[in-house]
Amino acid sequence: MLWYKISMLICSCNIITKSEIEETIISLLDDDAWQLITPGKIYHAMSVKGKCCGCFPNLISMIIATTENYHRVKQTPEAEILPFIQKLKDEHYRCETARKLAQMKKRKSFV
Ligand code: FES
Repeated sequence: MLWYKISMLICSCNIITKSEIEETIISLLDDDAWQLITPGKIYHAMSVKGKCCGCFPNLISMIIATTENYHRVKQTPEAEILPFIQKLKDEHYRCETARKLAQMKKRKSFV
């Protein structure tokens, strides 16, 4: 009997599952546990490109959750985890806002 690994599809443009993305995030964190991981960095590591970028908000949530879990498993002191996760959230919020504004600007230019 064959057993299939079932994982939620996160990026329908590139057919990438949640477990594939989590594995890539962990691999990046193994290289540098304190780096700022972005959706672009994940896709670059996977040799794909964001097309519609509709999956980016989910990717950001996964980056934050996976990074936090990674540091808890590694038993990083709480006093180091919390400011780093807050910095991650702030940076992703800033990037998401910029991306949405660019999308709105692009739509207006077509009207
Ligand atoms: S859903 Fe991921 S690039 Fe479109």
